[in-house]
Amino acid sequence: MSLNIEKQMKAQLSDEILNALELCSQTADENNFKIYLIGGIVRDLLLKKKSVDIDVTVEGDAIEFCHLLAEKKYCKILQVQSALKTVKAVFKGKTEIDFASTRQEFYPHRGHLPVVVKIGCSLQEDVYRRDFTINSLAMSLNKKNYGEVIDYVGGIKDIKNKKIRVLHDNSFNEDPSRILRALKFAARFDFCRDKHTKMLQEKYINTQLHEDISWARIKSELKQCFSLNSAKVYDMFLVNENYKLIYGQKPEIKGLEIKNLIDKYNPYNVWLVYLGTVLNNKKIIEQFCFTRSEKKIFTDIEFLMNNRLSVMNTNYDIYKFFEKRTTESILVYYLLTQRKEALKYLENLSLVRVELNGDEIQELGIKNGKEIGEILEEILKKKLSGSIVKKGDEIEFVKSKIK
Ligand code: CTP
Repeated sequence: MSLNIEKQMKAQLSDEILNALELCSQTADENNFKIYLIGGIVRDLLLKKKSVDIDVTVEGDAIEFCHLLAEKKYCKILQVQSALKTVKAVFKGKTEIDFASTRQEFYPHRGHLPVVVKIGCSLQEDVYRRDFTINSLAMSLNKKNYGEVIDYVGGIKDIKNKKIRVLHDNSFNEDPSRILRALKFAARFDFCRDKHTKMLQEKYINTQLHEDISWARIKSELKQCFSLNSAKVYDMFLVNENYKLIYGQKPEIKGLEIKNLIDKYNPYNVWLVYLGTVLNNKKIIEQFCFTRSEKKIFTDIEFLMNNRLSVMNTNYDIYKFFEKRTTESILVYYLLTQRKEALKYLENLSLVRVELNGDEIQELGIKNGKEIGEILEEILKKKLSGSIVKKGDEIEFVKSKIK
């Protein structure tokens, strides 16, 4: 018996989204297009969870279909990708919908991005290019069977049984980033990989590794996984040996320890604290094409790990060691070395400031620029050792220098 989720859809989606989909539905029926909600949104409707993106697939040409919508002023077209025949459009109430033409893909090289072999294929052919059964469901938007879920691969059953299952044995060879996608979905929905999928993953990780894969996809999935700030994701990443995918190391660290530090110190790039504890392969770091500020985190980690603190440190030594290093890198350094000085710096020392500025020191009578710099540094040293506390003390110290 077929499953119809029209009721669920009406209960879960906003009126704006439902109106936009209604306009799509009418236009499709009037012009003999078959259109479907596809992928994540159908999965999320079945799971009664909120979806981020609305993906519609058009059996045929999505650009042609969207032009019909735009002609009737139902939507504005924001972006067209002519090679893949995909369109992003915005409807009333700022509802954005991604339209894709059904397509068949082929992976000419393992782990590289796929090439499209056919655009405008059947829905069934489109479904087989996808990652997991739970992401391969479609829901008809045509009047005749509005809300009917089309399941060619057993996705409904897998959602019920909380299973993540690939569509075919070659799935991870074609796209190893799916290993991380499985981790993301497992954590997000509390699902498990089915036995065969788990075996295929282990086989890939232990025998198929090669550096020549799509690192952009791997990076994007790592970012999504670790941005969840989930101890479980990190523990599973280590237990499932996913770090081998990025030629990383396995540290003796528990996800909960990282999560607690992140919650306390609030670094901007949460995901890079998790990643920084496992990724130390320079070649792979290069492949990730990090932004300048992301790259600095890795150069800082390298610096801190290669220039260890000596055993007897004054607060000033500690300050100088961590000064100018990113919070993310200091946290990674702490996690890898357990040196308490790192937390002392983040918690206390980094907050110590010299209150006097150069102009004020000049007004007090010291004119030479180099000397001003040296005095500022001396004041900092004294503040860090606790022998100077207030601004008044700083002024007294400068005056004593003049005498
Ligand atoms: N997909 C895939 N292989 C990938 C990435 C995506 O097969 N490496 C397919 C999946 O069918 C997925 C769809 O493309 O459902 C859309 O991808 P994406 O937006 O990344 O995934 P969603 O399932 O929508 O997940 P999310 O809820 O995180 O947006």
